[in-house]
Amino acid sequence: MSYNLLKGKKGIIFGALDENSIAWKTAERAHEEGAEFVLTNAPIAMRMGAIKELAEKTGSQIIPADATSMEDLNNLVEQSMEILGGKIDFVLHSIGMSVNVRKGKHYTDSNYDFTTKGWDVSAVSFHKVMNVLYNKQAMNEWGSVVALTYMAAQRVFPDYNDMADNKAYLESIARSFGYFFGRDHKVRVNTISQSPTPTTAGSGVKGFDGFLAYAEKMSPLGNATALECADYTISLFSDLTKKVTLQNLFHDGGFSNMGVSDSVMDKFTEE
Ligand SMILES: NC(=O)c1ccc[n+]([C@@H]2O[C@H](COP(=O)([O-])OP(=O)(O)OC[C@H]3O[C@@H](n4cnc5c(N)ncnc54)[C@H](O)[C@@H]3O)[C@@H](O)[C@H]2O)c1
Repeated sequence: MSYNLLKGKKGIIFGALDENSIAWKTAERAHEEGAEFVLTNAPIAMRMGAIKELAEKTGSQIIPADATSMEDLNNLVEQSMEILGGKIDFVLHSIGMSVNVRKGKHYTDSNYDFTTKGWDVSAVSFHKVMNVLYNKQAMNEWGSVVALTYMAAQRVFPDYNDMADNKAYLESIARSFGYFFGRDHKVRVNTISQSPTPTTAGSGVKGFDGFLAYAEKMSPLGNATALECADYTISLFSDLTKKVTLQNLFHDGGFSNMGVSDSVMDKFTEE
């Protein structure tokens, strides 16, 4: 269903890799809600080609950018303002990658070059994106910036590896940068802490299926899907949430406040 919540708004959406991506669903929903936007992803993700299909479907242009490169980000923001014909109203940072996870390095035996790379891609890139937007004065007043995160930033999920640390850093950047963005340009900055979701990044986590099933049983409303995450993100881009900023917002069916649920207890009392 469409409510025209983003009619006339212009945005930049990072991280749509394939139709499972949270950013992909968000782009589809933003289009339905009347927004115009530029799609961007790392140059390597372009070669996979799927993003072109999304661009056609949503009438968007694609500008490749490595989110760790200030040069790419400067170019992205300049070109986006040209294409969209003005300043930006919303930005989605939907980017995550751990080299330690990819290479199967255990948390207790990290390769620190991998750690640094993953931190740059998954966390510092958020600072870099906002640095460019802020210094170019590229955001409209009452604009909204959202990044996606996971509860391993607050609690122990052993197989989430160094992504837990990256997410803690990401959430801190949202608060620290969000202060200046709010004070100086009336732009809000939040993170959404999403349920485990079957995407390329999600499924890369060891034992992901168990993770997903456990969270489903623990959450009174069940896991939030990628599409539901997209809906929530749209609400944060809309004018209905103008004074929400510096928040880490849990979008997880209630998981984050649970101790134990009946269905998890049942598993342990089975004869
Ligand atoms: N899937 C989950 O279980 C889950 C749960 C909570 C939060 N998240 C977060 O949601 C976000 C989106 O992930 P997803 O689950 O949709 O997976 P995804 O794999 O579809 O998206 C990750 C994206 O990051 C992009 N990326 C990687 N390196 C990049 C770089 N250097 N520059 C620009 N882009 C780069 C990838 O190309 C990809 O599009 C991530 O921040 C992820 O940590 C995911």
